Amino acid sequence: MAIAAVAVIAAPAPAVAAPKEKKEVDCTQVKCLALTFDDGPSKYAGKLLDILKKHDAKATFFLQGQYVKSRPSFVKRMVKEGHGIGNHSYSHPDFTKADAGKIRSEIKKTNDAIKKAAGVEPKLLRPPYGLSDLQVSDIAAEFGMPIVLWTGGSRDWESRDVEKIKKQTMSVVKGDAIILMHDWVKQTVDAMPAIIKTLQRNGYHLVTVDDIIKHQDLKPGDAFPLPEGWEN
Ligand code: NI
Repeated sequence: MAIAAVAVIAAPAPAVAAPKEKKEVDCTQVKCLALTFDDGPSKYAGKLLDILKKHDAKATFFLQGQYVKSRPSFVKRMVKEGHGIGNHSYSHPDFTKADAGKIRSEIKKTNDAIKKAAGVEPKLLRPPYGLSDLQVSDIAAEFGMPIVLWTGGSRDWESRDVEKIKKQTMSVVKGDAIILMHDWVKQTVDAMPAIIKTLQRNGYHLVTVDDIIKHQDLKPGDAFPLPEGWEN
């Protein structure tokens, strides 16, 4: 803490302090990693947002429309505090088993709910279970959204164990990683302070998915990272 305080004092004061939320991180120059939380906002989202704020870490939330509708204040806070927001369907059906009308309505209702709650339109789609096919990709393209999956997962839904979540998460950490977690798993929220501290100690900047994919030139309907056997 003392070292950090000295560093802050030694830095020249900018004429106008930029708001923390707008801080630009260039992931071509520094080590970046994106934590992503699916299925929420859950009832633990407020506690998670407090932890992220305390550690000056950004995350991306792939939200379900049904919970955006029941917990709009969390969504508003996510946007206000500089986190990324993505669409994770309205009620979490498997899109590869749904017809086009159902997929369109799931995406649209969620976009509308997020817009109503926080005044922004999500630009990224993560289909439920990360399951996608040509039809899903075509519909994502209609909405102007790339599909964002993950490079590694915490398997938190499976273990529900703080120590195992920490260990599994650290095992999939690498530069520009997009890590899958769930804010409805209480143990994930409990594990976050330690995970964030370890990552930051190892030089990682915790950024939004947007910061990671900025240099990927993804077009609507493209998927990142590419599932096996896929081409954009
Ligand atoms: Ni999900």
